[in-house]
Amino acid sequence: MEVKIEDKINEIRALIEKINDPLLKEKTLSVIEKCLFKSPYVFSPGAKKAHHSYLGGLIDHILSTTNIAVSIAHQLERIYGYNVDFDTVISASLLHDIMKPITYNLGESDKNSSLGHYLDHLTLSVLKLFQEGFPLKVIHAVAAHHGEPSPTRPTTIEAMIVHLADYIDSKLNGDILRKARSICQEELKESLEFNNFTQVVNIFEKQKKILDQAQNEFTVSFLS
Ligand SMILES: [Fe+2]
Ligand SMILES: [Fe+2]
Repeated sequence: MEVKIEDKINEIRALIEKINDPLLKEKTLSVIEKCLFKSPYVFSPGAKKAHHSYLGGLIDHILSTTNIAVSIAHQLERIYGYNVDFDTVISASLLHDIMKPITYNLGESDKNSSLGHYLDHLTLSVLKLFQEGFPLKVIHAVAAHHGEPSPTRPTTIEAMIVHLADYIDSKLNGDILRKARSICQEELKESLEFNNFTQVVNIFEKQKKILDQAQNEFTVSFLS
């Protein structure tokens, strides 16, 4: 089932609505509208190769990372009793990769823009948030979202949540893409670069039939 880009935009709007601080909510919405919801940014990939390397990959990554971060934050409150600053978690998760589109030559997603040759998305995103007057706790979480290789390590629990959510979503998506590519090459004898994630989902749907067949063979061999 393909999820429409309009539905993803609406889901991001609903997440922004959960920010309680009216000024932070307004600033977050304003940057997201300017830097993500406009064409061609809304179709930006999330990375060149490693993960979300297809049209609309960035919006998938932002939405998924924010949902994962909110879920981790709930566990920290419910199980560990830490009073999480949800406003910071939501705003920083939504904005952590916000300047990625301008580092790419959109249309040739495996190439950097001229600006992208000189400044990375993390630096540019921090610059943007500074320019827009975001509070330090949000800028810190964005600056530290790559964890150890970041210019600054995550120091607040909110920054740790954003980093971990970013890592989980990038790793999961990247592993799925790598496996889908290897299925195409090894089993279907085709080489495929994906334009969207629905193509990837379809490959794994076909794999379920092979798993059913394997289950039948397993049953015949061991259980009958
Ligand atoms: Fe990033
Ligand atoms: Fe990211």
